[in-house]
Amino acid sequence: MNKITAAITAVGSYVPDFVLSNQVLETLVDTNDEWITTRTGIKERRLLKEEGKGTSFMAIKAAQNLLEKANLDPKDIDLVIMATATPDMPVASTGVYVATQIGATNAFAFDLQAACSSFLYGMSAASAYIASGKYKKVLLIGSDKMSSIIDYTDRATCIIFGDGAGAVLFEPNTEGLGLQDEILKSDGIGREFLKIEAGGSILPASEETVKNKQHFVFQDGKTVFKYAVSGMADVSEKIMQRNNLSHDDINWLVAHQANRRIIDATANRMGLDEAKVLINIQKYGNTTSATLPLLLSDFENQLKKGDNIIFAAFGGGFTWGAIYLKWAYTK
Ligand SMILES: CC(C)(COP(=O)(O)OP(=O)(O)OC[C@H]1O[C@@H](n2cnc3c(N)ncnc32)[C@H](O)[C@@H]1OP(=O)(O)O)[C@@H](O)C(=O)NCCC(=O)NCCS
Repeated sequence: MNKITAAITAVGSYVPDFVLSNQVLETLVDTNDEWITTRTGIKERRLLKEEGKGTSFMAIKAAQNLLEKANLDPKDIDLVIMATATPDMPVASTGVYVATQIGATNAFAFDLQAACSSFLYGMSAASAYIASGKYKKVLLIGSDKMSSIIDYTDRATCIIFGDGAGAVLFEPNTEGLGLQDEILKSDGIGREFLKIEAGGSILPASEETVKNKQHFVFQDGKTVFKYAVSGMADVSEKIMQRNNLSHDDINWLVAHQANRRIIDATANRMGLDEAKVLINIQKYGNTTSATLPLLLSDFENQLKKGDNIIFAAFGGGFTWGAIYLKWAYTK
């Protein structure tokens, strides 16, 4: 019998309608379009503004988009993995709620949190469940409402992040397509440089923590940038070498959209042509767990069966890694 690999067989996405442009940010903090564009590549981002709607709202929309496109009965889904750094609430699992809402009543579900690497780690987890032979349909959703944890008076963070969601379906493949190899890394040295200090078990919410703005993302951008550039480029180069892939063999780089300069540095190290680097950071900013599936969704029509794709991400913790995957279908 042929070895079972885990292939992506469907993609869906959702972004909120509200657009926050660089021009509007200029009126909120001391910044300007030229600085944001040259330092990050971001022009605008989407925000989920409606009161009472959270990460699950976008996750459900993205999953429903996938179900419709794939003509899939949600009852056939075995497992829902919800990659997110902004769950609806600290306890009850967002993924469980999402699974029930989309009608995946035969699935079990859980949340996976690895900051901006959540979706990449989720690809590894989804693929392992499929390769085990125990599960046939695993829905991996990446969704984050970053606007719920961003201080819109802090120019170091508010220019970067946006809200959005994407979903992919993993299924078994016996043609050798799907996930081929992965390098996943983490290092707790990163905790000091990118974090939300309060609201967890060390520093529970109090009047003091709210006053001190400790429920918002804090980022030492310069340090994170340094680690992100070397981390993402290192693993991407290594996974190419380990699989005897030259830059000619690679069709696409699907990299976490945190900063255009980090993506370019990774592509350069891999020796890749600009045309092979998928980019949509200008439209959405950094949507954390949603960047990779939003790229797949935006560029789905260009992907061909058998294409060699390198996925790469870097996030808080620190967490980072690269995945080599062979695309399984042509639209
Ligand atoms: C945040 C980030 C865009 C800042 O870019 P940078 O080139 O490192 O900028 P610096 O922080 O060194 O700041 C350079 C100058 O611009 C200023 N500046 C910072 N933010 C600014 C803004 N929004 N608008 C205008 N000026 C700004 C700084 O105060 C600094 O001024 P100074 O030189 O007078 O002190 C960049 O560090 C970054 O992208 N980091 C990694 C982010 C990331 O990947 N995060 C998520 C990981 S998943």
